[in-house]
Amino acid sequence: MKLKYSIVIGFVCSFVFGQNKHFAPGKEWKDTNGVHINAHGGGILFADGTYYWYGEFKTEGKGGNTALKGVSCYASKDLYNWKNEGIVLKVEEDRDSEITKGCIIERPKVVFNKKMGKYVMWFHLELKGCGYDAAKAAVAISDTPKGPFEFKKSYRPNKATWPIDFKDKFKNASIDEQTLKSWTPEWLKAVKNGMLVRKDFHKGQMSRDMTIYVDDDSKAYLIHSSENNLTLHISELTDDYLDFTEKWTRVEPAGHNEAPAVFKKDGIYYMITSGCTGWDPNEARSFKSKSIWGPWEALGNPCVGKDADLTFHSQSTYIFSVQGKKDQFIFMADRWNPKNPIDGTYIWLPIKITEEKPILKWFDKWNLETLAN
Ligand code: GAL
Repeated sequence: MKLKYSIVIGFVCSFVFGQNKHFAPGKEWKDTNGVHINAHGGGILFADGTYYWYGEFKTEGKGGNTALKGVSCYASKDLYNWKNEGIVLKVEEDRDSEITKGCIIERPKVVFNKKMGKYVMWFHLELKGCGYDAAKAAVAISDTPKGPFEFKKSYRPNKATWPIDFKDKFKNASIDEQTLKSWTPEWLKAVKNGMLVRKDFHKGQMSRDMTIYVDDDSKAYLIHSSENNLTLHISELTDDYLDFTEKWTRVEPAGHNEAPAVFKKDGIYYMITSGCTGWDPNEARSFKSKSIWGPWEALGNPCVGKDADLTFHSQSTYIFSVQGKKDQFIFMADRWNPKNPIDGTYIWLPIKITEEKPILKWFDKWNLETLAN
């Protein structure tokens, strides 16, 4: 009875609201019920012929950026029309839970772990009432893409381990770093040489903006803003994707990168990031490398044309490949709306790779067919 009812509602809604046939970056994006999609800082999983879009469920007004419900999920066959599958990781009423209502859950990403046959969600977790100080990465699992996801654990990654390529001479501070004034050349040099890695050595490294990348050999990596958002870390996950192998490296020490999104084409890894200006947009950056472990070469701003210096008023969140379209990657970004977070919109653009450099060009309206012509 319930199923029949929702099929009828779905049919009526798609008749009344029509089908989306294009991406319209920055515009209101209605789901199959005619409601603006609520899945910010999101990521995409493709499973059994369906795309799943997971994201932060925002609410209205002040406080709308904290997790009052949890992580939302939408499903689609064609990438234009999305059905709301509800909240798949719910915040908890228990005040002692790390994911209690009012905590901060950001940038959820879901991947499939073949070995366990489980769906694994990683996200950035901040504890309720503690601002962004906890700086943790957290993991949840589910038997199906539609959840429910069960919260497992949160981490400060790589406790008491040095990055793979960390020089012995940097394992102890050579000068009195406490007295250095922030942002002076001496301070930046100390950050580059691992001052903040040493600071968090025993506690575990910070993890704020993050993504997950699964390689062709099924190895997965958490790519996360660490060292107070000054340096990106790439941390290998264990075979079940639930923990860290403690093999890790640093990318662009003191480069101030956030919002990492990674993809691979023809054996080259590409990464697009943003600078660090909170909810305000800034100029994106891009990198390439022959190995996930680097060295990552900086390629500059991937955006071209009007508003390229502000990433078209958005900030990266994920990059995924379109099924059945060779080398067609889609860049997903958020146009945040901190005054009314639920109204934030989405910028999806095609990525073109020219001479091993990703290029993002604005389109008011596009679809995969028009792109092919
Ligand atoms: C941004 C970050 C967002 C969110 C925000 C909070 O820089 O990319 O995910 O954490 O800061 O101000």
